[in-house]
Amino acid sequence: MSETIDTLLQENRKFAPSAEFVAQANINDATIYESADSDWQGWWTSWAEKLDWFKKWDTVLEWEQPFAKWFTGGKINACFNAVDRHVLAGRGDRVAWIAEGEPGDQRVFTYADVLTEVQKLANALKELGIGKGDRVCIYLGQGPELCLSMLACARIGAVHSVIFGGFSAQSIAERVNDQGAKLIITADGLWRRGKVIGLKKIVDDALDLECPTVEHVLIHERVGVVGHVTNGMAAPDYDRGMAIPGRDVWWDEIVELQSAECACEEMDSEDLLFILYTSGSTGKPKGIMHTTAGYLTGTSATSKLVFDLKDSDVYWCTADCGWITGHSYVVYGPMANGVTQVLYEGAPDTPDKDRFWRIIERHGVTILYTAPTAIRTFMKWGEEYPRGCDLSSLRLLGTVGEPINPEAWIWYQEVIGGGRCPIVDTWWQTETGAIMITPLPGIVSTKPGSATRTFPGVSATIYDEDGNDLVKTHGIPVGGLLVLNRPWPSMLRGIWGDEERYRQTYWSKFSDAYFAGDGAKLDEEGYFWLLGRVDDIMLVSGHNISTMEVESALVDHHSVAESAVIGKTHDVKGQSVAAFVILKGHVSPSEELKQELRAHVATKIGALARPDDLFFTAELPKTRSGKIMRRLLRDIAEGRVMGDVTTLADPGVVAALKGQYEDKEG
Ligand code: WT7
Repeated sequence: MSETIDTLLQENRKFAPSAEFVAQANINDATIYESADSDWQGWWTSWAEKLDWFKKWDTVLEWEQPFAKWFTGGKINACFNAVDRHVLAGRGDRVAWIAEGEPGDQRVFTYADVLTEVQKLANALKELGIGKGDRVCIYLGQGPELCLSMLACARIGAVHSVIFGGFSAQSIAERVNDQGAKLIITADGLWRRGKVIGLKKIVDDALDLECPTVEHVLIHERVGVVGHVTNGMAAPDYDRGMAIPGRDVWWDEIVELQSAECACEEMDSEDLLFILYTSGSTGKPKGIMHTTAGYLTGTSATSKLVFDLKDSDVYWCTADCGWITGHSYVVYGPMANGVTQVLYEGAPDTPDKDRFWRIIERHGVTILYTAPTAIRTFMKWGEEYPRGCDLSSLRLLGTVGEPINPEAWIWYQEVIGGGRCPIVDTWWQTETGAIMITPLPGIVSTKPGSATRTFPGVSATIYDEDGNDLVKTHGIPVGGLLVLNRPWPSMLRGIWGDEERYRQTYWSKFSDAYFAGDGAKLDEEGYFWLLGRVDDIMLVSGHNISTMEVESALVDHHSVAESAVIGKTHDVKGQSVAAFVILKGHVSPSEELKQELRAHVATKIGALARPDDLFFTAELPKTRSGKIMRRLLRDIAEGRVMGDVTTLADPGVVAALKGQYEDKEG
């Protein structure tokens, strides 16, 4: 890569928070940035002090790059901070969860209910032989039992490792064996688009692949129970008779018998809280490790300030607890703040494409946190769905997961937020544990497509390939590689069982900073614009162009719903731009439109970025977390045998695209 990343797409719109929002914001004093920066350990300490401790820490930070220890000497429990302390403070009647299943069933849990259930479950785990430090895998659909399982592990000091309910038997076995888990918590199934996904059967297949450390499987009856009471629902494909005696235990047959009293284990600040696997584009998944006190400090502070959480809020983060977003911004961060939140099990288009908006209307959701891929899907479905619902309760919108195209940002703001809600575009990673770059909604004016500034106390800058700090040597505006150059409390503590890979992946490219793997630019006002993974930056005739910018230019055209852009090897230019385009519902593909779109990119960005190839497609290959797999598109475009497709949400999509590409080349 040449010295800096050329950033060609200009986005000049800017939105200041309304006076009304500023007046009520949890934080609206901009001097917080300087004060947190000048004493960042003191800043994080002030947030640690808001947690409940069995014993306060001796030392705030021990930092021997790349190993950080925060709040050492302290004793604390994550479940206590998420649940018990609210009940002890007389707030047990507050609603914690409003849980909606896909079939429409609803359950409400107060904090007192959660405390009762989590203690019973924790006692059941103990009866199954689980103790401090043991690993427990959780393979459940989004809902109360998933959150309870995480919290019950935390309560007794067991390490949880959630495996997203869309992963295969093979992926489960790989994760279970990597960490030597003793127990798997699962369900008979979950609902997805009206169909039952038989979780327990998939777990059985995983166990057939040999998982020698697993002693028990705890099964929650989800589908069976609701199936009995919901007319016309798909029948459960797993029943009690199929459980293997001695190994398999039904939730209600053990949990219901337990006492509702189970003391919290006093954990060291640096005791492991969870392992969460994240799949890189190559190699086996990495077991990212997060510990207790620093993680809680980072997630509770960011939840409170980024989402401006108030007692009056009904918060809804649409992420599943199978991902880090569900760990940090469904369970630990929001619950440490005693929030009332919605948990939704299913798909956004079941029974119809307005399901999300109906949920917001039904429960009076005030804060919505979702992903750009979802927003673009809603745009494609059409405005009529949100327009048909009352969304006036919303007051703040958030996004996470990938760069949000300015067009999607504006749509989110206007159609969902009614023009009144600030948008927080939050950049972070499984590895960072908590939000790192984001607006504070009562302080920072937003620009569509920019995650704006580092969260107070966090420090980031832009390096070149050789590790020069371009902000120092070059000044702003500048583009290059995003690094975090100061430790933060919720940072990963390593990769389970592979210290060398931890050093290699994050700390070897630069000697003095954490390499995030993303490209970014800093504009003339010091705002960060994330440009996607460095692997996704193209080198066209000597210019670094971000695939994300070309995608945004395409989505800017009124007929385009979504696009994916890649750099394809080219004899002369090094790489040429190839685009895959999904059109909006009512638009039909044509040669004219193809030319028009190529020209549109040239007008928006410059002739350099004009796609040589442009294909219309109905779907794009995505991971189960909704990220476009550009690596596969490069394989297709360059006529290679396709790499690993096991993490694809829908493998059929790739075959269809490959056929189209070969027709053209042939
Ligand atoms: C990668 C981390 C963090 C929770 C979900 C993803 C991309 C994430 C943004 C954003 C631009 C973003 C980055 C990052 N990303 N949020 N607001 N703007 N890019 O967690 O699976 O660990 O992925 O997601 O490329 O490195 P993850």
